[in-house]
Amino acid sequence: MTVDRPTEHPVDALFTNRWSPRAYSGEAIDDATLMRLFEAARWAPSASNLQPWRFLYGKAGTPAWQPIFNTLVPFNQSWAAKASVLIAVVSRVRSTPPGKTEKVDNVWHAFDAGAAWQNLALQASLLGWYAHGMGGFDNAALRQALNVPEDYAIHAVVAVGKLGDKAQLPEALQQREGPSPRQPLAAMVAEGAFRFEA
Ligand SMILES: Cc1cc2nc3c(=O)[nH]c(=O)nc-3n(C[C@H](O)[C@H](O)[C@H](O)COP(=O)(O)O)c2cc1C
Repeated sequence: MTVDRPTEHPVDALFTNRWSPRAYSGEAIDDATLMRLFEAARWAPSASNLQPWRFLYGKAGTPAWQPIFNTLVPFNQSWAAKASVLIAVVSRVRSTPPGKTEKVDNVWHAFDAGAAWQNLALQASLLGWYAHGMGGFDNAALRQALNVPEDYAIHAVVAVGKLGDKAQLPEALQQREGPSPRQPLAAMVAEGAFRFEA
């Protein structure tokens, strides 16, 4: 599906076609497709090629689904219930380098995990699937449920699925369902020094 999102300059439709729906169809995702999404994420760039991202997933209808789903805020549960897979995006904050005894922080872990999830989302879009990132979840509960060690940060949960009928959504969400606009380029790009709102 091609999405009509006006741009100020020409870009590949890959970028404008990706958007975050809430009306999912409940269709199951096969492992081959799911692994293609992780494969795309794997090829993201990262500081010192440390590849700090980790993905913990639960497919709908499997035992791994519920522990992730339970940690979503009720609003996100209301629509993500019909996703095909939930993916927790986690990254390694610090580790002990070979030959050293002290742990060292990787200050770029979040930047790199962001690049990896975007690769995943774009690959999903190219395959006719939709990835919707969520910050609305109980971080501590998810850490406990998935046994995530303290040296890893939990960033987001991503719902992936096929597009469903938006009539299934509550009225208010039906109106918001669709690709969103962006701020003008001038609000985010400057030549030289910072000159945006402080
Ligand atoms: C880190 C992150 C957290 C988000 N949290 C939520 C969320 O908890 N619930 C939700 O419905 N959408 C959430 N979103 C979706 C954003 O609202 C959406 O990506 C943004 O409005 C841009 O729309 P688009 O992805 O359709 O282009 C989140 C997106 C990101 C990247």
